[in-house]
Amino acid sequence: MPVISAAGLARTFPTKRGPVEAVRSVDLTVQEGEILGFLGPNGAGKTTTLRMLTTLLAPTGGAATVAGHDLATDPAGVRRACGYVAQSGGVDPQITVREELVTQGRLYRLPKARAVERALELAHDLGLTQLLDRKAGALSGGQRRRLDIAMALTHRPKVLFLDEPTTGLDPGSRADLWDLVRRLRDEQGTTVFLTTHYLDEADALADRLVIVDRGTVVAEGTPSALKLRHGGSIDATLQDTFLAITGRGPAPADAAPVAV
Ligand SMILES: Nc1ncnc2c1ncn2[C@@H]1O[C@H](COP(=O)(O)OP(=O)(O)OP(=O)(O)O)[C@@H](O)[C@H]1O
Ligand SMILES: [Mg+2]
Repeated sequence: MPVISAAGLARTFPTKRGPVEAVRSVDLTVQEGEILGFLGPNGAGKTTTLRMLTTLLAPTGGAATVAGHDLATDPAGVRRACGYVAQSGGVDPQITVREELVTQGRLYRLPKARAVERALELAHDLGLTQLLDRKAGALSGGQRRRLDIAMALTHRPKVLFLDEPTTGLDPGSRADLWDLVRRLRDEQGTTVFLTTHYLDEADALADRLVIVDRGTVVAEGTPSALKLRHGGSIDATLQDTFLAITGRGPAPADAAPVAV
């Protein structure tokens, strides 16, 4: 059974200049323990889809389940099953890393002593131990990103949604994050749903890719299958494949038409 399944998921925003169809219709399934790369150009509807799948934003159409919980009828169940790292994090600059982590544990109703213990475990896993007493506002961009991720893992979610988790990270921190994502999958069976604009990252990390453009899925498959089908050969770069799929680059003459 898929851990995420969405059918016709849609979100329209009313604006003064008329409705904006941020997500027109997204159909997707993700299997348990899969690392899914959710790719697409700026404005394609990735963040809006993630916000719907984590119950932060109500869909205006379609339906989805996450870990067996229906978005519409059991949003609390969806929230318990999910961790979410937003595209831009929202930590309080005045409080310390330790306080952030303990508070997050308390939000998930851990007893005080357990919340303190969990904060130490998470700090260890994300390389934040030396920074526990630093104010969140004084962290570097990459350190703050690691804090965002630690907070999202507090309740050991079955599904982790990461919106551009490695933007702004140095190469070492990026490699550490890839290791962490793989460890979560391998050791805990966590499903990871991540967006990225770094196609080398998608190629290296994702088991399967779903590519969205203008609010709908335009291609999906393993990186190799997409290269073969849309990039012209298995040796194509994911960059050229992506540009062919999204129509932002030259399509090879023998490429199969992109299903829209
Ligand atoms: N609250 C809102 N009101 C009006 N339009 C919105 C709102 N939120 C998003 N949009 C529009 O919906 C579209 C999809 O936005 P979204 O943030 O989902 O894109 P994205 O794929 O995450 O892009 P990026 O790669 O730049 O992060 C964009 O055109 C955006 O301007
Ligand atoms: Mg986004």
